[in-house]
Amino acid sequence: MRTGRQLIDKLYKEHMLKKEEWIFLLEHRTKEDAEYLFSLAREQQKKHFGNRIYTRGLIEFTNICRNDCYYCGIRRSNSNVERYRLTMEQILSCARSGHELGFRTFVLQGGEDLAYQDEDIVEIVQTIKNAYPDCAITLSIGEKSCESYKKYFDAGADRYLLRHETADENHYRRLHPAELSLKHRKQCLFDLKEIGYQVGCGFMVGSPGQTAECLAEDMLFIAELKPQMVGIGPFIPHHDTPFAEEQAGTLELTLFLLGMLRLMIPNLLLPATTALGTIAPDGREQGILAGANVVMPNLSPVSVRKKYELYDNKICTGDEAAECRMCLNRRMESIGYELVVDRGDFKPLEGEFAI
Ligand code: 5AD
Ligand code: FES
Repeated sequence: MRTGRQLIDKLYKEHMLKKEEWIFLLEHRTKEDAEYLFSLAREQQKKHFGNRIYTRGLIEFTNICRNDCYYCGIRRSNSNVERYRLTMEQILSCARSGHELGFRTFVLQGGEDLAYQDEDIVEIVQTIKNAYPDCAITLSIGEKSCESYKKYFDAGADRYLLRHETADENHYRRLHPAELSLKHRKQCLFDLKEIGYQVGCGFMVGSPGQTAECLAEDMLFIAELKPQMVGIGPFIPHHDTPFAEEQAGTLELTLFLLGMLRLMIPNLLLPATTALGTIAPDGREQGILAGANVVMPNLSPVSVRKKYELYDNKICTGDEAAECRMCLNRRMESIGYELVVDRGDFKPLEGEFAI
């Protein structure tokens, strides 16, 4: 078996490791390995994006969800959540302030709220797209039929985020009730890709029952799917869920995985997530320095922010969109990067590793 450093070199050159190698690297990683990994990840990040950080404005338009995932604060069994839906006017007003602040991608995220028929989602997409034709629309509203995904795409949705959560069957069962299946979730992702969306998958780091083998499965699945974006952040317990007493994922492991992802897919869109900023005050900055190149601040009205609490102590729940934008500007500049006014589309690579 090779050393961690040799495996990092192999990943850098070949953009892939075998399952046992992912496991070895994760289980034997040292501080020195991490430093080395991050320096190569930054080299790739700089090569493909310079010091430019893309932004996406997140609009959390409904916290009503039919699912009961054990980790999630807005799961349907949590009766302590005050439920809300934003009106079309409220959504448009978020988009308006976001556009003024320089956002050119809007992510419409919500629980799986059955009150929205396909026609309603289509209307939301078309209305925003008409008002801001220079913007990309990303949907993040869970598992739907292929036909529904097609309708949203035809209405103008460009991208879709659907974290797979874990690619390991047993681990998936540990995190979700019986009515949900990994097979269906993966199918949704392949359908979305087939339709033509730019797709984002992803997983939580350090969720209950996660092993190095699970993470290796995640890397293999990502290699198979070839998504344009991968969203990862630490698992953080929410006090009103079955996982209230579980340990949170660590900053250190999340950063290591960001570095590995950057080397596996050099031009990948890789956000430094809000969860990362929640477990450490400079978590997002450290995420960027480990290879991430996207931030996704919240544009939701301050009045509902606290109600979209997927996990405890979520940051930015008291701040206006403009404050978050300024704050992130400052944070990125402090480490030598800049936020850009750009849709931040995925740019395919030329040649061998093109996806
Ligand atoms: N901790 C961290 N991330 C969470 N998510 C949901 N609940 C938690 C939690 N307790 C993530 C999931 C989901 C995304 C919207 O938020 O990965 O896909
Ligand atoms: Fe929201 Fe810093 S990013 S206040």
